[in-house]
Amino acid sequence: MIQLDNVSKRYQMGEVSVSALETVSLRIDKGEFVVVLGPSGSGKTTLLNMIGALDLPTEGTIVINGVNLAKTRRADRFRFRRETVSFIFQTFNLFPSLTALENVQFVLDMAAGRNHNGRAMEVLGEVGLGERVGHFPHELSGGEQQRVAIARALATGNPILLADEPTGELDFRTGVQILELLQRQARSGKTVLVVTHNREISRIADRVIELSSGHIVSDGEPRGGSAAIADLQW
Ligand SMILES: Nc1ncnc2c1ncn2[C@@H]1O[C@H](COP(=O)(O)OP(=O)(O)O)[C@@H](O)[C@H]1O
Ligand SMILES: [Mg+2]
Repeated sequence: MIQLDNVSKRYQMGEVSVSALETVSLRIDKGEFVVVLGPSGSGKTTLLNMIGALDLPTEGTIVINGVNLAKTRRADRFRFRRETVSFIFQTFNLFPSLTALENVQFVLDMAAGRNHNGRAMEVLGEVGLGERVGHFPHELSGGEQQRVAIARALATGNPILLADEPTGELDFRTGVQILELLQRQARSGKTVLVVTHNREISRIADRVIELSSGHIVSDGEPRGGSAAIADLQW
């Protein structure tokens, strides 16, 4: 489903070239729940953005659902993003002047189909916010705002969820609830990548891909063993 071969990414900053990823190869199957772990600056966001076709590698190939991203045109990548990947961010990125319901409807309005209200209500119910759909972001807690963002990501039915530090702004208990929700999405068949710098969080994943200075330094079951979400501590 997701395949990277010798992917490198360099950013040119005037005279200086910053290497964010170096010859990264990996394969992720449908329904996997993967945590990408690494310290700040290790290339996690760069990796996620390239899988989400927000950016192209300097070298190497990325094939997602049979599509070689380097060979696509800009318009194809736009469609790919609309139909294949959904992003969840640390800072939720909700529209402050839209209610929870309207924030979710917004992505559906851009997609095809009808009965957006029904679909938006359905996914908000799925994340436990059925009673709060008329609230504006500033009337919701951080965890609730992140759940709206997850509902928005689920609304389109896209098969890949990419979450960049989704618990970074949340307290422990709330963060755990968000992880539980993302884990459940993987169990129901979506492919889920969660980026974090927190090793303890990574223990809930089936698979941890660890980055350091743009290299994959390990890939497999969490170091120290998997943990049930209820047993996490940090
Ligand atoms: N747009 C950019 N321009 C220049 N350098 C960048 C850009 N984005 C990221 N970098 C650099 O690439 C490296 C990896 O960054 P990033 O992928 O954001 O890491 P992480 O998400 O793990 O903190 C860092 O050294 C960062 O400064
Ligand atoms: Mg980052």
